[in-house]
Amino acid sequence: MKLSPFVLERHFAKYEFDVPYQLSCSDCEPLRMQELLALATPDSLRLWETLQFLYTDTNGHPLLRKEIAEWYGNVKQEDLLVCVPEEGIYLVMKALLEKEDHLVVISPSYQSLYELAIETGCSVSRWEADEKGIYQVETLKSLVNAKTRLVVINFPHNPSGTMISRAVLEEIVWFCDRSGILVFSDEMYRGLEQNPGDRLPCASSLSDFCISLSGMSKTFALPGLRIGWLSCSDPVIFEKLLRLKDYTTICSSAPSEILSLIALQSREMILNRNLAIIKKNISLVNEFVRRYPSKYSWTEPKAGSVAMLNILTGQTSEEFCQAFLEKKQVLAIGSHLFNMPGPAIRLGLGRIGFAEALADLSQFTSEL
Ligand SMILES: Cc1ncc(COP(=O)(O)O)c(C=O)c1O
Repeated sequence: MKLSPFVLERHFAKYEFDVPYQLSCSDCEPLRMQELLALATPDSLRLWETLQFLYTDTNGHPLLRKEIAEWYGNVKQEDLLVCVPEEGIYLVMKALLEKEDHLVVISPSYQSLYELAIETGCSVSRWEADEKGIYQVETLKSLVNAKTRLVVINFPHNPSGTMISRAVLEEIVWFCDRSGILVFSDEMYRGLEQNPGDRLPCASSLSDFCISLSGMSKTFALPGLRIGWLSCSDPVIFEKLLRLKDYTTICSSAPSEILSLIALQSREMILNRNLAIIKKNISLVNEFVRRYPSKYSWTEPKAGSVAMLNILTGQTSEEFCQAFLEKKQVLAIGSHLFNMPGPAIRLGLGRIGFAEALADLSQFTSEL
């Protein structure tokens, strides 16, 4: 089967480097080299300055894996496989699925979370939220059948910023465990909870048959490093993922691993910086929605750096985004790129330039 184009990534590729402002970035304001190196401990700075550009450990630098394990608190260093985040999705989908397997995938979702499975010849059922925006476990259970091999979840959720409770996560994991179904939990936005008490445990710490994905791109404001990791405590699954990595990147980028280590060692400072940016942008959106109650509505995100703004102007999301781009040169990602019903645009709340992009949206709205 042919792999369909990744519509969101193609759309970004077409415009993102030519527009002055973006409204829909999913990452947090990317750090600069100087800012990051200023956070380094003397030992990590030495690692950086004396770095030799060797091939690295396929599993990931031991010090980096140790630091990631410490961040989670209940994940073992040996259960971590460092990879590019998008590569992690590829490894899971290609190493663990076979033709005619069935998957249940949270919807809407980042396209690779279902597209690679479709290309493998699997069938996919979409787990959608109810009319209140809540992902009901009973709905998920009703989508499972005898061929279901994998359930794919993503909390904090891109693009809505929705969360589930720890009890709900445990219910999903234990239901899948009992049913012999693997869980793939995309946790790329973990750490960006508005209320720190809402932070979920790494799903892979709850069962051997869960694989978790996270990385430096969103929470740690370092998307350009291209560093992430899979976590899984089942040795057979782990081995399958590791073997496939020999055919993707073999090992990770040596400088990126050390820079990731430096960031993780200063995680509290980086998280607080990012959460402060998100909090400020959330209050700007609340003001904005209050100003235009007949044109927009939204549900404040519980976690993550993205949320959806519903468009009540009568335009489709495609028409709205195109007109906004033409008139104000601001790139906005519409719900059509997520295959979502209802006109809406994604708000990227982690960026400093968001205020300017929102001011442009305000001007655009008053000219409608
Ligand atoms: C939910 C989710 N998973 C995975 C990824 C892939 O991360 P990266 O682009 O750093 O490879 C993204 C990126 O937007 C994402 O939003």
